[in-house]
Amino acid sequence: MSETKKLYIKTYGCQMNVYDSERMADVLSPLGYEMTETSDDADIMILNTCHIREKAAEKVYSELGRVRKIKQQRSANGKTTIVGVAGCVAQAEGEEMLARAPIVDLMVGPQAYHRLPELIRKIEAGERGLLEVDFPADDKFEKIPAANNAQIIARGPTAFVTVQEGCDKFCTFCVVPYTRGAEFSRPVEKIVAETTRLCASGVKEITLLGQNVNAYHGIGPDGDSWSLGRLLYALADVPGLERLRYTTSHPLDMDDVLIAAHGDLPELMPYLHLPVQSGSDKILATMNRKHTTAVYYDVIKRIRDARPDIALSSDFIVGFPGESDADFAATMQLVRDMEYSQAFSFKYSPRPGTPAADMEPQIEEHVKSERLSELQVLLRQQQHNFNQNCMGRKIPVLFTGKGRNPGQLVGRSPYLQPVHADAPEEYIGSIQNVDITQVGTNSLSGLCAGDNAQSEPSVQHKAIVEGAAL
Ligand code: 5AD
Ligand code: SF4
Repeated sequence: MSETKKLYIKTYGCQMNVYDSERMADVLSPLGYEMTETSDDADIMILNTCHIREKAAEKVYSELGRVRKIKQQRSANGKTTIVGVAGCVAQAEGEEMLARAPIVDLMVGPQAYHRLPELIRKIEAGERGLLEVDFPADDKFEKIPAANNAQIIARGPTAFVTVQEGCDKFCTFCVVPYTRGAEFSRPVEKIVAETTRLCASGVKEITLLGQNVNAYHGIGPDGDSWSLGRLLYALADVPGLERLRYTTSHPLDMDDVLIAAHGDLPELMPYLHLPVQSGSDKILATMNRKHTTAVYYDVIKRIRDARPDIALSSDFIVGFPGESDADFAATMQLVRDMEYSQAFSFKYSPRPGTPAADMEPQIEEHVKSERLSELQVLLRQQQHNFNQNCMGRKIPVLFTGKGRNPGQLVGRSPYLQPVHADAPEEYIGSIQNVDITQVGTNSLSGLCAGDNAQSEPSVQHKAIVEGAAL
């Protein structure tokens, strides 16, 4: 019997890349490749890269240095290693990287993972330096085999499902429209089928992914274009599904059905990541965000009316070209007004080929750093306050794995906070109530009474999905 071959994938960047790495594993599984957590015993090593901010390519080059040593070591032991670079760095800098790093055997962009078996076969036949970065017309999702039951179970009770890819918004700082291409939505039936299969294998929580997920407009079984809201109502009925989330959204695409879903669907978790980037209308305009702060305030108000306990998250960029002290003060004011449960914040990083990289004036590095620390102090304070409000509450937690200490499990609250509690291992994969007794800035902990907290099936979805009103 032939020995199983091992595949190691190191994933950088967003959740979309996590999903893509799993799809690469699925597509290589019929060729006899099994995932390994250790790079030393890998017959194929793939770096699944991110290009969103600076130093992305540098990180990949330095990791390739490490990979080269492993490859040499293995070669000394008579073993071959195929080295691949996937993801957005491959898409954006493929040719240059192949020239600079001869250790790389193949580079594959995010839209071409279904071509991996073909590329691997060519390499096994002696070819080198392959680059596959087209945006092919064929649907990569259709070409990749579904994960089998054992793979799904091994990946745990939470799973990602990509429903939309690419972006047509062209914010002036962002590489996504160039690396991931134009917006594309998968058909409703495919998404329902994938979700049904995952839930049949024990997945409880599904996070729908898309660079612009709420711009989703996939074709429905009725031939109509379905919005994300309508899709969520349909998915809430999938047997075994307990929790739904989606990320990442754009304020302009928060339509009424999606907002209503937050009020109607107990499965839709009270957490929303809705990036605003800046609190200054002048900066939002030069970022080409296509919305004002007033639009954002209004959207948030309507969401909070629908789901008062919603935990709100966002992304911020400080030091965008032309950002004055007053512009930054407006961002700080917006943050004070919103009260986030947590948020991500970054210094503006000029990306070659994007319009903002050539805008003047660029902001000095030390100013960016000062603004970032000021913003992060406020955001951490808000995160701490949000967590503090959970003290003494009974919170349903989906246990996802073992905690750091013996006897301890870790899971997620509806608000996406990590929660630790002493509980038996058989609780992994189930939702249990936890009485919160301790809070920190990054996580909660408490006592698990063992009273199951599975959510009640909601009675109203079917009527809404079938209704013509949507
Ligand atoms: N510089 C800094 N942050 C950026 N982001 C995207 N592009 C850049 C850039 N050039 C941030 C945005 C986005 C998140 C995924 O990354 O805040 O929402
Ligand atoms: Fe990038 Fe803007 Fe599209 Fe988000 S909406 S992926 S920030 S271009």
